[in-house]
Amino acid sequence: MTCPCYICKVADNTMITLRAPAKVNVYLHILGKRSDGYHEVVTRMQKIDLCDTITIDETEEPGIAFNCDDETLAGDDNLVVRAVRLFYSAANLPARQGLAIRLEKNIPVAAGLGGGSSDAGTLLQGLNMLHDYPFSEDELVRIAQQLGSDVPFFAVACTATLATGRGECLSALGDLDDYWYLLVNPAVAVSTKWVFDNYALTSGKKKSKLFGSQKKGSTTFSLDDMHNDLELVTMKRYPVVGEIKNSLLEAGAEAALMSGSGPTVFGLFKREKGDISSLYKLAECLSEVYDRRVWLTRAYTGA
Ligand code: C5P
Repeated sequence: MTCPCYICKVADNTMITLRAPAKVNVYLHILGKRSDGYHEVVTRMQKIDLCDTITIDETEEPGIAFNCDDETLAGDDNLVVRAVRLFYSAANLPARQGLAIRLEKNIPVAAGLGGGSSDAGTLLQGLNMLHDYPFSEDELVRIAQQLGSDVPFFAVACTATLATGRGECLSALGDLDDYWYLLVNPAVAVSTKWVFDNYALTSGKKKSKLFGSQKKGSTTFSLDDMHNDLELVTMKRYPVVGEIKNSLLEAGAEAALMSGSGPTVFGLFKREKGDISSLYKLAECLSEVYDRRVWLTRAYTGA
């Protein structure tokens, strides 16, 4: 297996630096509720170039020493620590020296951007590389899905996917890299569980109308496909989500949508259109309104 290029081995092989990218859902349809309590989804996800950084060092001291620049995330219940434990128990590797893992957060937390899932999934890829690939990608996905529905996408090298099932059945798609992604995050943390629990058709049998490019296997994409079934749930509770969406559309975004369970909203701006300085100005204006929780970024293509 080739090494995903955002994993770099440094010096004497004992330290790895990983870039853990965020994602946006360019569409998200809920098909109904499953017998395991989760919802059946059809979603197209794109990794974007807003990344956390994880470093792994092998140490003489046994055990896992985890630290994070956001102290609220530094506990042993962090998904990263759970990912390490799960990896070693699945790999049945002999006890060896310990690991020091440091997480630097840039992706906002509970924001619909998959930050925690990316940290865990990317770390699984890093550990797999560190140990010379004991697991295939499919096996890594099976480990990842025990950590959360979005984790599998971050445990594989592909940067854009159609995800079905709970979100763990992946088929690679082409990157949507001809847009700038302008992200705006109102400073409220949203619980994914709460949003799914409050989705109106939770007990119903909704069959989302799926257009051509949302059918499994299709790789085409049109801006008309952009839709998120969860958007209204979060917007009702946090009207600021709708305000941000309107601001982005009024400012000339080709389309704007809440990502995942929110509350982050992203606007798409054609890359070849206009010059980037006007987008920087727009980002700066929005930054003043939304307390600097604004990012102008591109599709993450692993380069
Ligand atoms: O899988 P994960 O732990 O990230 O999901 C958090 C919560 O979101 C789940 O407990 C569930 O309530 C809800 N969820 C769902 N259907 C999905 C994914 C998540 O109902 N496909």
